[in-house]
Parts: sequence; structure tokens; C-alpha cells
Amino acid sequence: MKLLFVASEVFPLVKTGGLGDVAYSLPCALQAQGVDVRLLLPAYRDVLRKLGTIRILGWLDVQGANRQHSVRVVEAEHPDFPFPLWLVDCPALFDRPGNPYLQPEGYDWGDNAERFTVFARVAAALAEDAQGVGWLPEVVHAHDWQTGLVPAFLDHLPQRPQRVFTIHNLAYGGHFSQADFAALQLPHHWWSAEGVEFYGGFSMLKAGVVYSDAVTTVSPTYAQEICTPAFGYGMDGLLQSRRYKLHGILNGIDTVAWNPASDPHLAAWYFAGQVEPGKSRNKRELLKRFGVDNPGAHLQHPLLGMVSRLVEQKGVDLVVNAIPTLLETTEARLVLIGAGHGYFEQRLRELAARYPERVFVFIGYDESLAHLLEAGSDVFLMPSRFEPCGLNQMYSLRYGTPPVVFHTGGLADTVIDATPEALKAGTANGFVFHELSTKGLLQAIQRALACFANPAQWEAVQATGMQQAFGWEKSAAQYLHLYRADR
Ligand code: ADP
Ligand code: GLC
Repeated sequence: MKLLFVASEVFPLVKTGGLGDVAYSLPCALQAQGVDVRLLLPAYRDVLRKLGTIRILGWLDVQGANRQHSVRVVEAEHPDFPFPLWLVDCPALFDRPGNPYLQPEGYDWGDNAERFTVFARVAAALAEDAQGVGWLPEVVHAHDWQTGLVPAFLDHLPQRPQRVFTIHNLAYGGHFSQADFAALQLPHHWWSAEGVEFYGGFSMLKAGVVYSDAVTTVSPTYAQEICTPAFGYGMDGLLQSRRYKLHGILNGIDTVAWNPASDPHLAAWYFAGQVEPGKSRNKRELLKRFGVDNPGAHLQHPLLGMVSRLVEQKGVDLVVNAIPTLLETTEARLVLIGAGHGYFEQRLRELAARYPERVFVFIGYDESLAHLLEAGSDVFLMPSRFEPCGLNQMYSLRYGTPPVVFHTGGLADTVIDATPEALKAGTANGFVFHELSTKGLLQAIQRALACFANPAQWEAVQATGMQQAFGWEKSAAQYLHLYRADR
């Protein structure tokens, strides 16, 4: 089976969050199950720099916003990828530094509508083999709003590939104006409530939902939640009406990159059944990396860790508000890595300055430090308001760092609360709270700390998480099933 996998980011070339991780490990898992994959990505400046020899597949003239672009499509090999990468090289749109979606000041690029429309037009042309490359995909799998127009551009074809669209986060809808729609010369008949029109503008994510043969989201619980007004961002009605083609498939994790027994970013390796002394060595190294000059003095105290985009979704405000009480009532320390909204960054910096012996913060993006934090912390905090799947709680489970999570989306599907019953049954792997408030979070942290103080119980909770199967095999098989539908 030939699969064109279309994404706007992919680890390790360009990553802003979990989408990048999934866009790497899912196609790898599919390839391992016999699928012939091409992964299509915009040729951002930093991506081109990481690639070696490239081969030109062809040139296309592509309609942009009131202008035409001459786009080069190239193929590249990369040692981390077991299949060829295809890149949409349009310097006017993608030859820019840094984040793929945001300007250095943190605002969206003003021409994002044009950038991702051009990307989608090229994806659709490749799916038809308009270039005559001689490779015609049977399935096109697109991800999030940046690729939402791909299935729409394929809609007119009498013999089209199976179109699968995955929603990684409904909060980002790719909303643009009617003026953008006109400038991009999108087909008039798309402009309707049954097409891409959305509250007076248009939504690229909606296009993905409407024009795909199957829509997936990244956990079963989130698939239910997005059909309700509280999580639907105005699309709950649409999603409800498309329930027949909506599926929740839980993400896996890359169990090679995220393995405490071989992770090159760690100070010491460890595994289930032999957590110490490896974990403590990582804790010491982590504290050192945060500038703590007497890490030994902190070792016996619980260390809470968090790695997160600093946005409202992740419940950062709950953590910020919980810190003073937490520090007064417990011996806990907190280590946090994150970047995002200036407001949260500032609040966290203030807390680190106010409690220099207890709160350690790194504002920025650091993949290596994120691995060390997963290994060196005792408890992982992830009080997300909503979470389509979440990868960090799975990383933390695998690293023997039981997570504290709010009961939502993929967190609800992966974390089993340490209730007396679950402890007795040996299924508990973390701490779940049901009341979304600072108080709810604090109570769950306090339960985690009580458990931490009971080594036998703690080790059992750690072991349950560490022994779980988080690989992609099962989910990849579910995607394969969808790819094969009606074939
Ligand atoms: P989301 O995609 O919503 O941000 P996920 O939990 O699915 O949430 O994935 C987040 C990914 O991004 C994880 O691999 C996490 O380690 C990584 N990450 C997020 N923020 C940072 C950061 N500041 N530094 C390093 N890695 C980060
Ligand atoms: C999104 C979601 C996150 C999910 C990731 C990968 O960024 O916020 O929950 O794990 O996509 O699917």
C-alpha cells in the first residue's frame, strides 16, 4: 500500500509539540508493517539545512494569494527516516527561521493562509501524480488545520485516494477570512455551511473534517469530547453529524527515543525492577543543570516536574496558583521547562525568583533537558484543561515518574488513579483529579506525595507505568484498518 503522509512538522527536523513526534513515529510504525510511505513537509529553512543530498522531483506553478508561485518539489534521504522525505520548496513562503507557524515576536505569520494553501495544493498534485513521478498513493493522511485543505483539493477526482484526516488539537482551527478565500482563489462551491465556511470566514480544519473519508483524533475520550459544546470550539455539531466516520485512536510513543534504559540524554540508565540508583543520579544531574549547587541536599525531597507549552490548555495557571500553598504545606521542589505565552513565562520567572531554593524554571525549548526531566523528577504534573492525547504523561509513566493529571481526553485514557481499589488490583499508575481547580490539583499532588512517602506503594505505582506497552504497533494497525476501508 502506498501512503502519502502530509504534515507541517516532524521530529527530529522541526517540532513544536506532540504533532512532530507523531508525524515521525506513526509513519515509521506503518512502514514497519509493510506500508510504502512518502512523508511530505514544507521545506522550512532549518529543515533544508539538516538534509544532505536532495533530488528534484519536479516544478509546479501554484496559485497563491493573488499571485503564482513557482514551487520545487524535492526528495531527500535522512538517516533517521526509513522512507524518502518529500519537501515543498517555495522560498517566498517557507525560507524563514525558527517556529514554523509563528514570527519571532510570537504572532502568527501574516500569510499562513497562503503558506498552507500552497502546501496543500502541492500535496494534492502529488497525490494525483501530476508530476509524473510514477508513484500514485492509495491513501493520503493529513494532520491538523495546516493540511486540512488536502482532502478538499482531492474531492473532484473521480478516482481518488482514501483520505484520512487526523485532528491533533481542535483548538487550532486554521480560521481565515473571506478576503483570504477570494485571494487564494479557492473553489466557490466550497463556500457554504456544508463546505469550509465557518462563522463568516473559513476554517481549514473544517475542510479536513468535511472532505475526508475518515476523520480520526488521537484518543477515544477526546473523540467523544469534541462532539460536545464544551470541547467542540463551535464544530461539535459538525463532528456529531460526522460521527459515522470519526474514530479515536490513541497515540503511541517512540519507545526507542523514550527508553530510560538507553536514553542518551540521561546521566544514568535504569529500568522497571531496577530504578535505583539510576533515577536518583538523574535527579542530581537535573538539579545541577538547573544551577542548584548542592543537589545532594534536595535528593530526599519530592521533585515535581513539568514540560509544557505554556498555554492555557496545559493548566499552567493552576500550577502557578498552587505553588505558594504547595511550598508552605509540603517539602516538594518543582522543576519546569516550558515556552509559550509571555504572561505565563513571566509568572514562572517570578516564582523562581521568589523561591530560589524550591522552584527551578527553564524558559525555552530543550529536547535533551526534557528527557532528563522525565527521568530525574519524582512526579510529573500535567493538569491540562483538555488534552487530545498527550505524550508527556506516557513518557513520564515509562520513566517511573507517575503523573498527576486532570481527567480529560488522552489523560483519562492512559492514567489510572491510585485509588485504594486500583492499588489493590495493581492497575494504579498515577493520580487523577476530577475538579478542574487549584484545589483539585493540590489535593491530587498531596495524594501523590503521601504515596511517595510509602516506598512499597510508590514502587508498585512506578512499576505499573513502566511495564505498560506504549508502542505504536496497535495504533498503527488501527490506522491500517481505516486506510483499507472500502478497498
Ligand atoms: P502538545 O503537543 O499539546 O504540546 P504533547 O504532550 O502531545 O503535547 O507533546 C509535547 C511534546 O513536546 C513532548 O515531546 C514534549 O517533551 C515536548 N515539549 C513541549 N515543550 C517543550 C519544551 N519547552 N522543551 C522541550 N520539549 C518540549
Ligand atoms: C496535539 C495535542 C496533544 C497530542 C499531540 C499529538 O498537540 O495537544 O494532546 O498528544 O497533538 O497527537
